[in-house]
Amino acid sequence: MRYPARMSPGFYAARLARPGAVLAPMAGYSDAPLRQLAAEQGALWTVSEMISARGLVLGGDSENLSLGRPYPGEEGRVVQLFGAEPEILARAVGKVEGWFAPAALDLNMGCPVPKVRGKGGACLLQTPEVAYELVRAMRSATALDVSAKIRLGWDTDRSVEVARGLAAAGAALITVHGRTSAQRYTGEADWDAIARVAASVDVPVVGSGDVGSASQARERLRSGVAAVMIGRGAVGNPWIFRSLATGDDTPPSLGERVRTALRHAELQAAFYGKGRRGLTNMRPLRKVLPQYLPDLPELRGALVVVETLEDVTRVLTPLLIGEDRAPTSRPASRDVAVAG
Ligand SMILES: Cc1cc2nc3c(=O)[nH]c(=O)nc-3n(C[C@H](O)[C@H](O)[C@H](O)COP(=O)(O)O)c2cc1C
Repeated sequence: MRYPARMSPGFYAARLARPGAVLAPMAGYSDAPLRQLAAEQGALWTVSEMISARGLVLGGDSENLSLGRPYPGEEGRVVQLFGAEPEILARAVGKVEGWFAPAALDLNMGCPVPKVRGKGGACLLQTPEVAYELVRAMRSATALDVSAKIRLGWDTDRSVEVARGLAAAGAALITVHGRTSAQRYTGEADWDAIARVAASVDVPVVGSGDVGSASQARERLRSGVAAVMIGRGAVGNPWIFRSLATGDDTPPSLGERVRTALRHAELQAAFYGKGRRGLTNMRPLRKVLPQYLPDLPELRGALVVVETLEDVTRVLTPLLIGEDRAPTSRPASRDVAVAG
């Protein structure tokens, strides 16, 4: 099945004209259902989980790859590719554009996991001239915006140098996760370093790292970035995008959180369909559903063993009887396995 191509040169500039925040690419999390919930709540745009350029170009029937497939009517979704060979990246961009209706293409230069290291991802921070070549190759294959998402460096901060090179190679936007690859996800993201990058290039810079609330996002915006990207802080909490888009920080009621968790499960079932035994598979949501209800830890045990949509419904619908208790503030901490 083909999806209509959405030609939108200047996508980033257009989206940055309004307030809001961006949903981060997160392998194992930012799939179509999470992207849909984030978009509905006002995310400026969303980014797919990283997709192997080699896999797309050399793989068999990648057209139906759920990593790249949009949900019906999806727009404003950036597709992120990883790879290290210019020709493969250029061909992958062509495939993505033909198959997955992206709004823009992004190059992964931040992922430290072993399968990516040595081939692309954060490894490119050690050989940034290869990354510049990749951006040029991607641009030659599309009229859409091409961007890159970096960390500060491999083990030391060389983000200003790398960002300048990427901008010169034609990147329309650069996202900076304020940690080195060696740091993985430890310590705190360095927003002073992100601010230095934002002040050093004339393309928009999006800052990423440890934004867990709308007020924190507003604080980070003062560092000079064009927008803030939110990853772990958006899992089980798509309302963070609503707060930033509207300026209204009213927390969601218990009823809204339960209904959204149920909807997440329904979107999961609709997007992935039924498995071999004719049942929907809710296992990927076991790590997500409890995050909608951090104030109800007694439900965690039941939510982390769900198999089917019926299981999810059985656990959650009793909460809707006499729903809409007073809004509950959410604890800031999130529980997202660091896999990508
Ligand atoms: C589980 C997980 C998967 C990730 N996968 C990707 C990925 O596929 N591509 C990417 O560029 N960054 C990936 N990241 C990094 C995030 O996009 C983001 O830069 C980082 O988590 C810091 O932001 P946060 O504190 O808001 O989560 C991943 C992070 C997590 C926690």
